[in-house]
Amino acid sequence: MNALMKFDVSSVARVEPNGFGAIIEHKDFDALVAQPGFVDGLVSLLAKHLVIRIDAPPFDPKSLAAVAARLGPPSVNKGPRLPGFDAIIQFDSAGKPDADPQRDRDAAQILHHDSAGLAEPPAFAIVNTKTLPKEPAWHSWVDMQAVYRELPEATKTKINGLRCIHPSYPELVTVGVHRDLKRLPEDVREKGSAHPLVVRNPSSGEPTLYLSVRRDAKIPGMDAGESLKLLSELWDIVEASPHRWRSLVRGNDILIWDNIGTVHDRPPFSAREPRKIWFGNLGPVAPQPAFAA
Ligand SMILES: [Fe+2]
Repeated sequence: MNALMKFDVSSVARVEPNGFGAIIEHKDFDALVAQPGFVDGLVSLLAKHLVIRIDAPPFDPKSLAAVAARLGPPSVNKGPRLPGFDAIIQFDSAGKPDADPQRDRDAAQILHHDSAGLAEPPAFAIVNTKTLPKEPAWHSWVDMQAVYRELPEATKTKINGLRCIHPSYPELVTVGVHRDLKRLPEDVREKGSAHPLVVRNPSSGEPTLYLSVRRDAKIPGMDAGESLKLLSELWDIVEASPHRWRSLVRGNDILIWDNIGTVHDRPPFSAREPRKIWFGNLGPVAPQPAFAA
């Protein structure tokens, strides 16, 4: 290839028929990232399709760091860094033979935006799972731009100017806390970032639903019963949405997603098995309302 010619990322990407999600299969991620124009092309692809999976055999962490750097500075996260790479968090567990399977199930995560409680949540996330779980495990994403687009007009009018508080509470996005914490403590419910319910996605320019993970979160100006009803209705729509993309954990895949325009879940993983993951939350951004209040 002519070195001056920009790499056309669409030549290696397979886009899902409904446009949500794209897959890149390539034997050499390092060579792809080294192509002039590939990383920029990846960002454009992400703005269009919101989630990208790259099936990539082992590669040099420098390549993932180059993609991460293009997506923005690392977000606040206390996770242990891959030595030499500030933007890449590494979870590396050898596996604990006596781990409790119920704890694994409880540690799975319900649909959420990553770190939505921050004043500036990450615009992007990367997960690169390096190990293959014995039980098939699926990640899924819901296109929150499409969910918003298809809401009844009356609902759009009702929510366009609203904000919702994103409380801070340990393991709030886990299946265990979702099941056991029936009601947010009042002081927890009152505190947190008040993000718009409908955000203008800075990457795509589209309005997107941006939900607090808790149905009982506070919507300023609404009483608790009214906000619970509204947030439960919106989450019911999200959970039933046909705009959902699933991906089986394959053991050598990189998943990159738009963390404003989508919500995602996380399957249970057995802590008895070894598990190694590189992870990044990138591009902190204060969510802006799509419409004036
Ligand atoms: Fe997450």
